[in-house]
Amino acid sequence: MGRVQDKVALVTGGASGIGLSASNLLAKEGAKVVISDFNVEGAEQAAEALRTQGYEACAVFLDAGNEQSIIDAINFTVEKYGTITVLYNNVGLTNLQKDLDVLNIDLDEWDRLMDVNAKSVLIGSRYAIPHMQKAGGGSIINTTSMAGFAGDVVRTAYGASKAAVANMTKYIAAQYGKDNIRCNAVAPGLIMTPAAERNMPQEVQDIFAKFNALPYHGEADDIGYTVLFLASDESKFITGQTIQVEGGHYIGNPSMADFQAFLAKVQGK
Ligand SMILES: NC(=O)c1ccc[n+]([C@@H]2O[C@H](COP(=O)([O-])OP(=O)(O)OC[C@H]3O[C@@H](n4cnc5c(N)ncnc54)[C@H](O)[C@@H]3O)[C@@H](O)[C@H]2O)c1
Repeated sequence: MGRVQDKVALVTGGASGIGLSASNLLAKEGAKVVISDFNVEGAEQAAEALRTQGYEACAVFLDAGNEQSIIDAINFTVEKYGTITVLYNNVGLTNLQKDLDVLNIDLDEWDRLMDVNAKSVLIGSRYAIPHMQKAGGGSIINTTSMAGFAGDVVRTAYGASKAAVANMTKYIAAQYGKDNIRCNAVAPGLIMTPAAERNMPQEVQDIFAKFNALPYHGEADDIGYTVLFLASDESKFITGQTIQVEGGHYIGNPSMADFQAFLAKVQGK
């Protein structure tokens, strides 16, 4: 028996990074997995790789910024596997050229990021919940971000959209808990996925490493295993929560590094 045996999972943005890790882990623990992505070839490759190893998976195109496309992916899942009991709303992105500080952010980009990062969670949940109600329950998992819990110099829309996802998680959990539908979120810190490699110059990665309590960066599987836990019945009394998977980056006093430097100076080290 796998940890999510016979659950039917739709993973959004499953062709790469965190979504790919979650898709692989869910399938290997017995779920029937639909991997949805803008990059449908990548999603198909991932599903094919799982099938060759004897697991149950298939792929479907998804544009998370488009309501009809989300509906199509959910309908595809239900037609293929009869229901949907796990929805992993994982798609999310930013744009370092346009998602800037409040004075300079591109307002069209604000709208696009709100649609792709936050509204997609609302829409996916809206169309998956009736199937979960019919099935007697389900688990919705959302990817938010530590960027949704603190201010920063740029990525205003990303941070605001991820904060929206974290709080929407509680609304969904509160509204459908009595239907045995749980909703939780995972908030990654810096995770070394293709997107992070693309967006983060080495110097920025080093800044993250300096503030992590742990001596290494996060990997996609660190989030994947958290999603697996939240999808499984092992977490059946957990709902409305955001689990922060961030290497202890945010647990210290923000001024700790400067304080350490000050101590070293006064102690003559
Ligand atoms: N990697 C990190 O450090 C980090 C930190 C915090 C939060 N996150 C969040 O984790 C999630 C996954 O990030 P990742 O690092 O694995 O990214 P990634 O780029 O490696 O994977 C994202 C996947 O989503 C797909 N995608 C992008 N836009 C899409 C759209 N509109 N419709 C459908 N598919 C689309 C991409 O094709 C890609 O396969 C995102 O929500 C991101 O905001 C990541």
